Amino acid sequence: MRRQIARAPFVLPGLRPRFLSNPKRGAKRPPGTKFFPAGALFFALAALAFAQTNPFAGNPQAIADGQKLFLQSCAPCHGATGEGAQGQAEGMHPPDLTRGQFKAGRTDGDLFRVISEGVRGTLMPSFQSLGSDQIWRLVTFVRSLSAVSMSYTGDPAAGEKLFWGEAKCGQCHTLGSRGGRLGPDLSRGSRRNNADRIKQSIVDPNADITPGFAVVTVVTRDGQTITGVERWVDNFSVRLIDPSGNERSFLRDEIRSVKREMRSMMPGDYARKFSPAQIDDIVAYILKSQSKANMQ
Ligand code: HEC
Ligand code: HEC
Repeated sequence: MRRQIARAPFVLPGLRPRFLSNPKRGAKRPPGTKFFPAGALFFALAALAFAQTNPFAGNPQAIADGQKLFLQSCAPCHGATGEGAQGQAEGMHPPDLTRGQFKAGRTDGDLFRVISEGVRGTLMPSFQSLGSDQIWRLVTFVRSLSAVSMSYTGDPAAGEKLFWGEAKCGQCHTLGSRGGRLGPDLSRGSRRNNADRIKQSIVDPNADITPGFAVVTVVTRDGQTITGVERWVDNFSVRLIDPSGNERSFLRDEIRSVKREMRSMMPGDYARKFSPAQIDDIVAYILKSQSKANMQ
């Protein structure tokens, strides 16, 4: 009996321990062990609690593994960043997973359950077939999306020089009171803006296009081709910011064709031109400026 109890905590979730459901076994029990079912129940609950404790909480490797799984299985609906879908999946209204608040509940166990079981009557499918190890990695990754972190390792002063100088970030981005308008304003941080996220935007801009910053190419009736970052595109007109930072508008009558592409206008060679330490410096400068702006 002792041995069974000792094993109870390791019963797989979802599998009822056999001694709870098999009356024959119960019948064979010697007298004086009446408390046993209660003990078994206690340990079955303990097993459940055990199963609901995230074995990977905060584990960086699990976050990285979870991100890979997320990009394969979840990004088509939730977007690569978990903020929501782009394009066709938008109509399903998948929730923003980066806010740190979930309808499903507050604990990692709640996230485990919703990923494992899905949500009935919605498009959120069950991912039980992935198995609990993978699901916990996904939970750990989803949690990491809302972690607030302004911490950085680089040198902000060195980063400032690069940002406005050699790396030319300031030609396209506003930070503080100056800078360009082609790319998103980087002045205000949000909980999505942590060092890893910013670094990824720099070294691999095409991995995740900021919503509202796709590339639009207009060919006019008189044969000009203008490429820029979208500001407004509808059936009647197109507005874009061209690479020199000027806003250009076109009416339908003037346009021969319009092409919209989910790629970044940001240079793709920063990882080659700058060392990882230099990129850390730039990230440090952005985060330091943001934490100042956020305090104002
Ligand atoms: C086919 C589209 C689709 C796919 C694929 C998908 N989801 Fe969802 N997900 C949804 C929708 C829609 C909801 C909202 C359900 C509702 O209304 O409660 C949702 C809800 C959730 C929630 C609950 C959010 C909350 O606030 O409670 C989590 C967590 C979640 N998804 C994680 C994932 C993970 C992790 C994956 C990949 C393993 C994934 N989803 C794959 C569409 C999808
Ligand atoms: C030629 C213009 C251009 C240059 C130069 C440029 N960027 Fe960008 N950047 C963009 C555009 C356009 C986007 C939006 C599309 C995307 O997400 O890649 C963007 C996106 C970003 C984002 C993501 C912002 C968000 O809100 O998600 C960050 C961070 C960023 N850039 C940082 C930098 C840094 C740091 C540099 C210099 C090392 C730099 N950029 C250089 C145009 C530029």
